[in-house]
Amino acid sequence: MIKKISAAQAYPLRQAILRPDGTLKDCQFDGDELASTIHFGLFDGDALVAIASVYCRDYESNEYYVGKGYQLRSMAVAKMVQGQGVGQKLLTAICDEMKIMDVDYLWANARVSATSFYRQADFDISPNVFDIADVGPHQHIVKYF
Ligand SMILES: CC(C)(COP(=O)(O)OP(=O)(O)OC[C@H]1O[C@@H](n2cnc3c(N)ncnc32)[C@H](O)[C@@H]1OP(=O)(O)O)[C@@H](O)C(=O)NCCC(=O)NCCS
Repeated sequence: MIKKISAAQAYPLRQAILRPDGTLKDCQFDGDELASTIHFGLFDGDALVAIASVYCRDYESNEYYVGKGYQLRSMAVAKMVQGQGVGQKLLTAICDEMKIMDVDYLWANARVSATSFYRQADFDISPNVFDIADVGPHQHIVKYF
C-alpha cells in the first residue's frame, strides 16, 4: 500500500539507503516540513519498504522548463526488496499524483547509478554529469506530464 507519510517516518530509510555513513540529521532536507511537500511511503504490511519525497520547486534554471515544477528527492527502496519492481510502483504512483495536482514537470538530480531506473519510467536524462559532495556523480532528469 502506498501512503503519504511524515518526514520523520522517512528519515530511517533515507539514512540506511542514501546516507549509510551519515546520521539521521544528515537526512533532514530543506523544505521537508513545508505544507506543499509530500513524503510518500510504500508499505509491505506494516513495514515501510520504499520512500520518496516531492517538493514544490521549479528547476533552478527555468529557461527550458515551463509551468509548475516539483523536485523528486530521496527515492530509496529497502535493500531486501530492491530490483523487484517496488521502486517503479512507487514512482508511477507519484507521477499519477503529480498529474492529479496539475504539476507540469517532475525533476531530480539523480545518481548516475540509478539513471536507467528513471529512463524506464520515461524520464529524460541530461548528458551532463556533475558531482554532489559526499554523494557522488549525478545527472539532471525530468519528466513532463
Ligand atoms: C534505484 C532504486 C530506487 C530502484 O528501485 P528498485 O525497486 O530497486 O527498482 P525496480 O525493481 O522498480 O526497477 C528495477 C529496474 O531499474 C533498473 N535499475 C537502475 N538502477 C538500479 C539500481 N541502482 N538498483 C536496482 N535497479 C536499478 C534495473 O535495471 C531494473 O530494470 P530491469 O528489471 O529491467 O532489470 C533502488 O534500487 C534504490 O533505492 N537504490 C539505492 C538508492 C538510490 O540509488 N536511489 C536513487 C537516488 S537518485
